[in-house]
Amino acid sequence: MKISIAIDGPAAAGKSTVAKKVASILGFIYIDTGAMYRAFTYYVLKKGVDPQNEAASCALIPEVKIELLPGGTVLCNNEDVTRVIRDPLVSANVSYIASYKSIRLHLVALQREMAEKGSVVMDGRDIGTYVLPNAEVKIYQIASVETRAVRRYEENIGNGIKCELKQIEEDLRRRDYIDSHRDFAPLKAAVDSVLIDTSFMTVDEVVNAILSIIKRKTAGDRK
Ligand code: CDP
Repeated sequence: MKISIAIDGPAAAGKSTVAKKVASILGFIYIDTGAMYRAFTYYVLKKGVDPQNEAASCALIPEVKIELLPGGTVLCNNEDVTRVIRDPLVSANVSYIASYKSIRLHLVALQREMAEKGSVVMDGRDIGTYVLPNAEVKIYQIASVETRAVRRYEENIGNGIKCELKQIEEDLRRRDYIDSHRDFAPLKAAVDSVLIDTSFMTVDEVVNAILSIIKRKTAGDRK
């Protein structure tokens, strides 16, 4: 039986860390949709296009090929962009790109195609509400903005990305605002999602909580 798990929530709530672990434990495919919006943003910046110019950014759709490889490698037109898409400049601009409907429609089509291939754990902003509305399990993962800023700061420092805590917090607040106020497929909890506040939880606690929700929700279907 093919199962889809949707994990949504605001920036740096730890979705991808948890989603990766859950996928690996269950043997499901992990799909990082944020990486796709980031790869598109990287390409826009690389071409010297202003990410706040919707028409010019959308005009690049036909020439952008984004691929997510099984090990987590992200390719943009065959270039390995796995690391560079985490650059603060990409983070600062990605929410503009993600607010453009034609770019979303293009990337959502790819995401749905990937989810057709097998059981998946997909994380993002609109997975439970728009990309996979029939997902068997929907999680909405949150944490206070202060906690999220510290987590992203430590993650960046660990990956050799220079940054300042205050700047990160501002970036998260700005992205959350844009993501939740855009017209098309904004960030919001699906009505049938389970809310998990991870502010005071370790990664393993969140993973275990999600695994038991999956077990509970899919138990009926397996009978
Ligand atoms: O890891 P982080 O929480 O910083 O963000 P991400 O998951 O890499 O997503 C980066 C940005 O892509 C978000 O701030 C959104 O603007 C956009 N995004 C989106 O609009 N829809 C998705 N399904 C995933 C990401």
